[in-house]
Amino acid sequence: LPIQNTGKGSVYIDTLLYDPDDISIVFSFSRSYFMVDASIPSEYVAFLHKLMPHKEVFELYNAMGMPKHGKTEFFRFAVDDTLNSTAPYIIAPGIKGMVMLVFTRPDFDYVYKVIKDRFTPPKEMTQEHVKACYSLVKRWDRGGRMADTQEFNNLAFDRRRFSDELMAELEKEAPSKIVESGNALVFKHVYVERKMIPLNLYLKDCDEEQLYSVMDEYGNAIKQLASNNIFPGDMLLKNFGVTRHGRVVFYDYDEICPLLDCNFRSLPEPQNDEQAMATQPWYEVKPEDVFPEEFRLFFSGNQRAKKVFDKLHSDLYDPEFWQDLQEKIRNGFVPDLFPYRRKQRFQLR
Ligand SMILES: Nc1ncnc2c1ncn2[C@@H]1O[C@H](COP(=O)(O)OP(=O)(O)OP(=O)(O)O)[C@@H](O)[C@H]1O
Ligand SMILES: [Mg+2]
Repeated sequence: LPIQNTGKGSVYIDTLLYDPDDISIVFSFSRSYFMVDASIPSEYVAFLHKLMPHKEVFELYNAMGMPKHGKTEFFRFAVDDTLNSTAPYIIAPGIKGMVMLVFTRPDFDYVYKVIKDRFTPPKEMTQEHVKACYSLVKRWDRGGRMADTQEFNNLAFDRRRFSDELMAELEKEAPSKIVESGNALVFKHVYVERKMIPLNLYLKDCDEEQLYSVMDEYGNAIKQLASNNIFPGDMLLKNFGVTRHGRVVFYDYDEICPLLDCNFRSLPEPQNDEQAMATQPWYEVKPEDVFPEEFRLFFSGNQRAKKVFDKLHSDLYDPEFWQDLQEKIRNGFVPDLFPYRRKQRFQLR
C-alpha cells in the first residue's frame, strides 16, 4: 500500500499493488533504498519474498537499505549459482567500454564491471573520478532510471571458468586489478550490477511496437534523470539497458553530473565560410558547455530509431528545454517519479 504525503500534515493511501511484477518495480535495483529501521531485518525479507518470489534475497536486503548484508547474500547466491552452471565467464555482449571492462555469464542475471587500468582515448578522467561517479549514483535518488551497483574488494572467482578471450582482455586492460593464485582469480575491485539488454542490441531485433515503446522509454528516462538533477553526459544508446519489464535504465556513470552544473547553449551561427566549413568548433567551448542540438548525432547509427525518437522527444534537442528545467530545479522543483502507472492511482490530484 504506497503511502503519499499530502504536505499538509496527513497521509493517504495512493493505490494497492498486488501483482508481483508491479510490486517488484517498487523494490527495483533502479530505485532508492528504503532505509528501513528494522530490528529483525530477516523477517521483513521473508515477508517481502512471499510477495515477490522471483526476487533474490540479496536484492531485498539492498532495497531495504542494508547493502552490506546484501553483499554477503549476493556472494552466497553467486557461488551457488556458479556451481549449478557450466557456462563460462565471457565479455558482456555489446560495444566494449572505454572505461570499464564488463563481463558476465550467458546464464547469469548480473554483470561484473572492472575499471580498466588505462582508458581508451578520448576518455581521460582518473580512476578516482570514475569511483566518485558510481558513488554519487548510490547516494542519489535513482528514480527508476539508474542501476544500483554493489562494490566489492577482493572478490574471488574460479579462474578455470574464464573464457580465453576474457582472460586475454583482463590481462591487457586491467592487469593491476587481478591476482591469480592457484585456481583462484581475485578481483581487487569490482562492481556488480543487474544485467540488462543494451539498448543498441535490443533495437537490432525488436518489432515496430517494441521500437516505439522503447524509444518513448529512452526519452522519458533522459527526461526523468534530468528532472532529478542528473545529466548522464554520455547518452548513446549503448549506455542504456532494457529491463525485463521493458523499462529503459542508464548504467554508464563516468560522465554523469548534476544537471545544474551544466551550461546548455545553442550552437553559435557561423559568420563566414571558413567557420561554416570548420571541422573543429571555431567558438570557445568550456568543459561544462553542452549543445543539445548535437544530441541528434547520438542516433546517427540507427536511422530507424532516430525517426521514432524525433517524433516523440525532439524537445530534447532544444537548449531552452534544459534551461527551463534547470530554472525549475533551482526554484525547488522535485519530481514525483511513481513506480506504478498513474492510472493505477485511486485518485488523481
Ligand atoms: N548492466 C549491464 N547489463 C548488460 N550489459 C552491460 C551492463 N553494463 C554494461 N554493459 C555492457 O558493457 C559495455 C560497457 O559498459 P559501460 O557503458 O558501463 O562502460 P564504459 O566504459 O563506461 O562505456 P563508455 O565507453 O561508453 O564510456 C556496454 O556498452 C554494454 O554492452
Ligand atoms: Mg558505455
